Amino acid sequence: MTELHFQLGRERELCLYELDNILSLSGYTLQDKGLLLPGVSTNDSNFDPKSLCTPLGGCVRAIERIGDYSEDFLMEVESGAWFLPEGPWAISALDTKLRSEREKLRSSVKTLVKQSDQAHGREERPKPGELDLSPAKVQELGFADTGSELCLWKEGGMILVGITRWVFDTHGFGDRDMNKPFRPRRRGLLPPKLARQMINLGRTPKTWKILDPFCGCGVTLLEGLDLGFQVAGSDNRDEAIKQSAKNVDWYLSQSESASKSSVAFIERIDARQLSTKIAPLSLDLVVGEGDLGPPIQGKLSRKAAAGFSGQLEPLYSRTFAEVRTTLRPGGRVCLAIPFWQPNEGDPIFINIERKLRLIGYEPAFDEKGFEPFLYRRKDQRVGRAIYVLKSPE
Ligand SMILES: C[S@@+](CC[C@H](N)C(=O)[O-])C[C@H]1O[C@@H](n2cnc3c(N)ncnc32)[C@H](O)[C@@H]1O
Repeated sequence: MTELHFQLGRERELCLYELDNILSLSGYTLQDKGLLLPGVSTNDSNFDPKSLCTPLGGCVRAIERIGDYSEDFLMEVESGAWFLPEGPWAISALDTKLRSEREKLRSSVKTLVKQSDQAHGREERPKPGELDLSPAKVQELGFADTGSELCLWKEGGMILVGITRWVFDTHGFGDRDMNKPFRPRRRGLLPPKLARQMINLGRTPKTWKILDPFCGCGVTLLEGLDLGFQVAGSDNRDEAIKQSAKNVDWYLSQSESASKSSVAFIERIDARQLSTKIAPLSLDLVVGEGDLGPPIQGKLSRKAAAGFSGQLEPLYSRTFAEVRTTLRPGGRVCLAIPFWQPNEGDPIFINIERKLRLIGYEPAFDEKGFEPFLYRRKDQRVGRAIYVLKSPE
């Protein structure tokens, strides 16, 4: 039996739903969603944490549980029953309150390394002082490939121990984020991780052709290509179309799997008129982030926030209606639209739920209904309300 646990990113609800959707596409069920690190258990001998986790945007580490921390467990570690470092090794506590347990586990591994013929001479890396590795460091050291990082975390009253089997591809995301030819500074840029999560939320077993109707410089298109889909992009600015096309060419020039045929079109289209250019029922997934309104620094009154929301409501009512005509039955839309957090009181949303029902959408996730996922950094006035809906089968 393998038990794999997932360390999630910051927006927990988004990360959980993404993970759940991706696992279920591979036939696995996410258990105990309330746990700090929820997991899956399986007897499948072909179970491959790496291929399962690589699509994810909101997961930090996947850790195979090997036992529960106790004095007996430490003795078993010393005997080599659980862990024989193949090369350099490290121990990370995923909870700052576990420092003393980490020290004891370190000393048990050190005893093992001294005594075991196979492990003798293996070094701890990085040197003590840089304990608790970041995902970037785990990736750099290759520990997820060699199974050389032990992790400790707390669940209820227990302390669990596991071996890292997969880690978030910090370098790949950084490369797509920072090294593409166009990265406009002024417009709100969708973080690649979030674009990936949104695609994964909208994915079904039948997903192949996806459109971002607000493609900007193409962040969603790059993530869609990276996930192996056929992508299409549209925007109402010529500059955005040029930037998306260049960024997509840059991605294709270094991709081993995606090619020109992975791009259906990148064209100037107003999202309020999608149906004039795109065949009805032709898309599996429409995903992206629209106009977020003006950037806001400093204070924001409730009145000003209500004004922004009113101004953008027609754009989104129209766009959701147009998107619906392009989706095949069972196709999904995952669209991020703005909401505002004024200085005082509750956030202000674009009043759209009734329209979404009238247009004929259904919730993609029954438990969520028409409620959006929320994504907002604490210091930001403008957040993203992410609607995931489906066209009836
Ligand atoms: C927040 S940006 C999206 C950023 C994008 N995800 C990226 O990777 O650059 C919003 C985009 O929506 C486009 N937009 C605004 N109103 C539009 C409309 N009516 N039709 C199509 N595109 C529109 C803007 O030109 C802008 O590129």
